[in-house]
Amino acid sequence: MKKIMAANWKMYKTQQEAKDTAKKLLELIDGKVKEDREVLICPPFTSLSVVADVINRYQYMKLGAQNFYPAIEGAYTGEISPKMLIDVGCEYALVGHSERRHILNESPEFLAQKVEFGLEMGLKIIYCIGEKLDQRKAGKVEQVLTDQLEKGLAKVSKEKDIVSRLAIAYEPVWAIGTGEVAGEKEIYEAHTLVREKLIEFIGGQAKDIPILYGGSVKPDNVKSIINIDNVDGVLVGGASLDANSFSQIVLA
Ligand code: 13P
Repeated sequence: MKKIMAANWKMYKTQQEAKDTAKKLLELIDGKVKEDREVLICPPFTSLSVVADVINRYQYMKLGAQNFYPAIEGAYTGEISPKMLIDVGCEYALVGHSERRHILNESPEFLAQKVEFGLEMGLKIIYCIGEKLDQRKAGKVEQVLTDQLEKGLAKVSKEKDIVSRLAIAYEPVWAIGTGEVAGEKEIYEAHTLVREKLIEFIGGQAKDIPILYGGSVKPDNVKSIINIDNVDGVLVGGASLDANSFSQIVLA
């Protein structure tokens, strides 16, 4: 399975900054990226097309959106549809990022609609899950992750060509943007659980669904994280904003 080295630029960068960062990243990594790796950039909507122009000649470089609305088009002021994302060159989209769950208050039902619709429209969906610190302290990691997976994937068709476009990102909320990375044991346990649950909900083909880790991934910890069983990539926030630091992560 290919490892997905993903950058989530969140609400950072103007078009010029996004273009410059993507160009610099390519200067640093082109010709050095391992064959079994894909590099995914998820810029803000306003920079999708400039980043697309920079990366579109490079097969291992992929474009992703951070969010979308589950409809083809319509009277949804302020929203963006999967059709528009595909049109601008997106292959991937994130759904259920912790900032959308906890700051934008997106409900599990709404996220399930997005996962279903995005996959049906042909996007590759990275469905994000993760527990908060109080939930971990209360021993509820298994319960929370199982619940998020069960609800988010409730409407996913088990057809092979659909499931082959699904990925999961485990991002413990307490490790996002805090500098506090989950320990190897915690990552191993969570990813093993996610793999088991995916197989339970979807069937044997779920062994091929990539499971990414996210939460304070940096150049100096990525190597040990990426080598853990069932870690099929990383989803990086802060350390992906700088081309230098993200290049070290991509090449680790
Ligand atoms: P940080 O890498 O800044 O902790 O963010 C992780 C994240 O939210 C990626 O989606």
